Amino acid sequence: MLIGNLKIDDPVLLAPMAGYTDMPFRLICRERGAGAVYTEFVSSEGLVRGSEKTNDYLVFDEHERPIGMQVFGHDPQPMAESARLIEAQFHPDIIDLNFGCSVKKVVKRNAGSALLKDLPLMQNIANAVVRAVRTPVTAKIRAGWSRQSIVAVAAAKMLESEGICALTVHPRTAVDGFKFPADWKIIAEVKSELSIPVIGNGDVNSENDAARMFKETGCDGVMIGRGALADPWIFQKTNELLHTGQCSTVISILDRIELCRHHLSLEVNYRGEMEATTMMKKWYRWYFRGIRNASTFRERLVRSHNLSETQEIIRELKESVCADPALSQ
Ligand SMILES: Cc1cc2nc3c(=O)[nH]c(=O)nc-3n(C[C@H](O)[C@H](O)[C@H](O)COP(=O)(O)O)c2cc1C
Repeated sequence: MLIGNLKIDDPVLLAPMAGYTDMPFRLICRERGAGAVYTEFVSSEGLVRGSEKTNDYLVFDEHERPIGMQVFGHDPQPMAESARLIEAQFHPDIIDLNFGCSVKKVVKRNAGSALLKDLPLMQNIANAVVRAVRTPVTAKIRAGWSRQSIVAVAAAKMLESEGICALTVHPRTAVDGFKFPADWKIIAEVKSELSIPVIGNGDVNSENDAARMFKETGCDGVMIGRGALADPWIFQKTNELLHTGQCSTVISILDRIELCRHHLSLEVNYRGEMEATTMMKKWYRWYFRGIRNASTFRERLVRSHNLSETQEIIRELKESVCADPALSQ
């Protein structure tokens, strides 16, 4: 897949996910075959104000490349200025515009998916950002604000005409949130109207789903969000299936426990012991799915306040699975 001049060898990408796709998790996914990764969205206004916290979200490791940095906002000038700042300071491979977030505090400020109700303003934003930087600019949209106002094709054509280099389509409406299944037909409709790459997104939870999305929609790339939280190996499995027609990779519970341990150590290097121990708590339900009796270990991990105790509980969990493989059935 070609995004501007950027060649993506394996077009199966990690979706931006606020609170999850930090540097450690992005590295984990790149090492397991993600063709590109994205930072979670950052506020254009925060960047222009020079907010340290906003800038922290964009810190990355060179091994993550190709990396996209995603920005949101409602005002063309700060959006353009923030893109300029991102380009100058971080040199990402892609700058992505968020036109899909349906979280209240973003929509209330007329940003994210609220722009699906105001395509002329979306157009002004795209125009201002594309003219402000040399980095390829991409965008991510939902299908529309509500089912009564599906605008994906109109928005997509407009964004292409403004010089957007690739478009990700998450075919749910803002009003629906995550309530109903993603409607992949909308991805196919957008693809049939555009010349730039179209990246399909929504409800890809296995390598078979990914292959089916390519086939059913004709999309150029697939972007995976929650499916990667549950299974960070989903990228290498999808690549294997697409390259060879089958997937023989099998990930065991012990592999998952080992990756959890590795993830924790990456977080410790990145954030320090205290913050890493706290932030890992939301990950245990993903890593320890499918382990019988994991809930007692999970509860202890959530109560744990220091690194050595956390490491010890994970070690005990691993030992109990080794001692009784039936626990992993
Ligand atoms: C916890 C969480 C955080 C998210 N944060 C972002 C974000 O920062 N930017 C964005 O464009 N989409 C965000 N999304 C939406 C995902 O990128 C993706 O479009 C959506 O989850 C559908 O894909 P999936 O079915 O593969 O998860 C987020 C989704 C989740 C679950």
